[in-house]
Amino acid sequence: MNVSSSPIPASGPVLKAEAVVKRFGANAVLHGVDLALGLGESTCIIGPSGSGKTTLLRCMALLEAPSDGRILMAGAIVAQANPSSDVSAAAKKVRPEIGMVFQQFNLWPHMTVLQNVIEAPMRVRGVSRDEAVATAESLLDKVGLASKRDSYPARLSGGQQQRVAIARALAMQPKILLFDEPTSALDPELRREVLQVMRTLALEGMTMLVVTHEMGFARRVASRVVFMDEGVIVEQGVPSQFFDNPTTERARRFLTHFED
Ligand SMILES: Nc1ncnc2c1ncn2[C@@H]1O[C@H](COP(=O)(O)OP(=O)(O)O)[C@@H](O)[C@H]1O
Ligand SMILES: [Mg+2]
Repeated sequence: MNVSSSPIPASGPVLKAEAVVKRFGANAVLHGVDLALGLGESTCIIGPSGSGKTTLLRCMALLEAPSDGRILMAGAIVAQANPSSDVSAAAKKVRPEIGMVFQQFNLWPHMTVLQNVIEAPMRVRGVSRDEAVATAESLLDKVGLASKRDSYPARLSGGQQQRVAIARALAMQPKILLFDEPTSALDPELRREVLQVMRTLALEGMTMLVVTHEMGFARRVASRVVFMDEGVIVEQGVPSQFFDNPTTERARRFLTHFED
């Protein structure tokens, strides 16, 4: 069956990794990962440092081409094996549909908060300035930062910067939002305000994939928890099952690091 020309079932995954392998030179980092993200689901990926979480996210965000396997969006192949890491023109075209929030915020330092949020919708989506500003103001209000619209990022706390980064991602009206350890660079007291915004998004039905070490967030917010180690998905399940009764020894061992 030709996947890309068949009708897309309403319940089909928004974004899907199929047998994704990623090599950097001789070093294989992902060994054939399958991951389907359903509409409105929030999936949390946890796992030790170096296990390939960021690499998987970058492949799914179409920032890197997989070495083997493919990425599908709404049932259509948007990226497949490419010996170089470059993504195709087709992938670049759909990339704006995938929002990404990074550990290090990555706001443009020479732009105000408002400018950070309106830039991509105007430049990439061709939205008018008036419309972009109206959307940005409502998104800044949503993340609790309406009063900071004319501030520069350096004037904001890390938690505020990350909330701006979330507003900036949302301004592109993405079909899915990917987060790579969004709170890891933050002091503990600033993490909450970011996690609260993410929780609200999840409750509103945003489709999300979140790499995180925040086990409380994963337990309370995730529809599904995925545990990765050494470039493979070792185990996955609903949070209560995964956290209370992990079936693999590796997951059990990993979780002991988070007990207090
Ligand atoms: N661009 C790259 N070039 C070479 N090796 C890389 C690159 N990106 C990641 N790696 C390697 O891939 C492995 C997995 O990294 P990463 O995906 O960042 O893991 P995680 O996010 O789980 O900590 C690490 O060994 C890392 O050194
Ligand atoms: Mg990482």
